[in-house]
Parts: sequence; C-alpha cells; structure tokens
Amino acid sequence: MKILVINASPRMESGNTQAILTPFLVGAKEAGATVEIVLAARKKINPCIGCFSCYAKTPGKCVHDDEMGQLSEKVRTADVLALATPVYIDGMPSLAKKVIDRLVTFMDPLFVIEPNRISHPLRWDFPKKMFLISVCGYPGLRNFDPLVLHFERISENFHSEFSGALLRPAIFSVLLTKKYPDRIKGVLKAVRSAGYQLVTNGKVSDDTLESAAMDICSTEELIRTANSYWDRELRQTSE
Ligand SMILES: Cc1cc2nc3c(=O)[nH]c(=O)nc-3n(C[C@H](O)[C@H](O)[C@H](O)COP(=O)(O)O)c2cc1C
Repeated sequence: MKILVINASPRMESGNTQAILTPFLVGAKEAGATVEIVLAARKKINPCIGCFSCYAKTPGKCVHDDEMGQLSEKVRTADVLALATPVYIDGMPSLAKKVIDRLVTFMDPLFVIEPNRISHPLRWDFPKKMFLISVCGYPGLRNFDPLVLHFERISENFHSEFSGALLRPAIFSVLLTKKYPDRIKGVLKAVRSAGYQLVTNGKVSDDTLESAAMDICSTEELIRTANSYWDRELRQTSE
C-alpha cells in the first residue's frame, strides 16, 4: 500500500502536526506500507484562479506552471491520500485548501447524476481511500467537527472512501513530557498503532482513536500552563 501524505502545517517538520504524523507513519511502515510525505509549505503551488481551463481548453492541465503537476502525478499512483493538518480557525489552513482545490484537474467537466448528489467523474486514477490526521490547540474533539465534515465531503467529491480521522486535541499537553511521561507514551503508542491498523485493517479502531485523543491533564491545568507561557512571552515583549 502506498500512502501519500500532504503535511499542510506551515511549520512543516517542526510543527506539532509532524510530531503526530511521525509515529503514525512508523506504524504504517511496520505494517508494510510505502509512505511519502509532501510538505505543502515547501512547494511552489499557486491558488486555483477558477478559470476552468483544465476542464475544456487544456483538459487536465492547469494554467499554472508550478509544482502541483508533480504532486498530481504522485496522487495518481497512491492508494491512500492522507492529509496531515493543524486546525486553523475551525478548519484547515489555506495551505491545505490550496492544494485540494488544485486537484480539480482530476475532474471531468461533464456532470453526472448519482442517487444523492451530482458529481464529476474523475479523468485519472485517484487514491481509493482518504485519511485525515489533525491536531488542534483547544481541548475536546468537538474542535475538529467542521474539519472532519469538510474532509468527508472532499473524499466524497473525489469518489474516494473516507477511511477515518486520527485527531489529537489539546496538542500542547503532549509537550508536558516530563510531568506525564506515561500518558504521553500511551498517546504516541496509540498513534503508531493507528498507522499500523490503517494499513492492515483499512481503518483504525475506536479504542485506538480514543487513546490517541486521551486527556493528558485537566483543562484547568492546560489553560494555566498555556497562560503562564504567554504571560512570560508578553512580559518579555514589554521589557
Ligand atoms: C492561525 C491559527 C489558528 C488556530 N485556530 C485554532 C482553532 O480554531 N482551534 C484550535 O483548537 N486550535 C487552533 N489553533 C492551534 C493550532 O491548531 C496548533 O497551534 C497546532 O499545533 C498547529 O500545528 P503546527 O504545530 O503543526 O503548526 C490555531 C493556530 C493558528 C496559528
């Protein structure tokens, strides 16, 4: 199984998104998958300008001559397309959406009617499955609701199966490694197991997803720790 991951964190390798993605991919590789990570922020990818040239004038070809062409080739040969992204204002950052919008070149312009929707058939192979890996700052899985719904619909739009979402809220609590080493080890073990399960079972068990999202500390402690960090930063700025 070939998994293509688009890491859409602007902080790339040093972001918390990558910190969760790394053990996930260790698990996926252990299960025999081939993985490739594309750091969206490192690629020259222009936003779609909505000209529809790729529909008819130059079928399948975008007016932008940038690195999206290369990335589309990788998408065509992957079995799973995984998006690894932080939550930015209740959704995906523009970096992620920019890449997804440019996948419109995969769509044939002629609409077809399906039982519950209208769609565009695909002109090329597209990964059969899509998977979401996401982190966010606030505690609670509800912070992922808009993103997960959006990602599910994106999978549907591309006739791909939504095969689940590995979600890690209160991501900053995972940095309290000295205080809660065992809990953090438990989270990372679950994340790794999620990668393994996706490859072997095609999905991740609810128990594993729950362990990956477990509370490391109380909300009060999380807020106290975060606020004292920002207090220090603010004091330094005003000195
Ligand atoms: C512009 C911006 C908007 C954010 N919006 C949210 C949000 O709506 N909800 C949330 O829980 N976290 C939010 N966060 C926190 C990020 O999800 C968190 O910092 C995450 O670790 C960023 O991923 P990264 O470390 O890979 O960059 C936001 C962060 C930024 C920079």
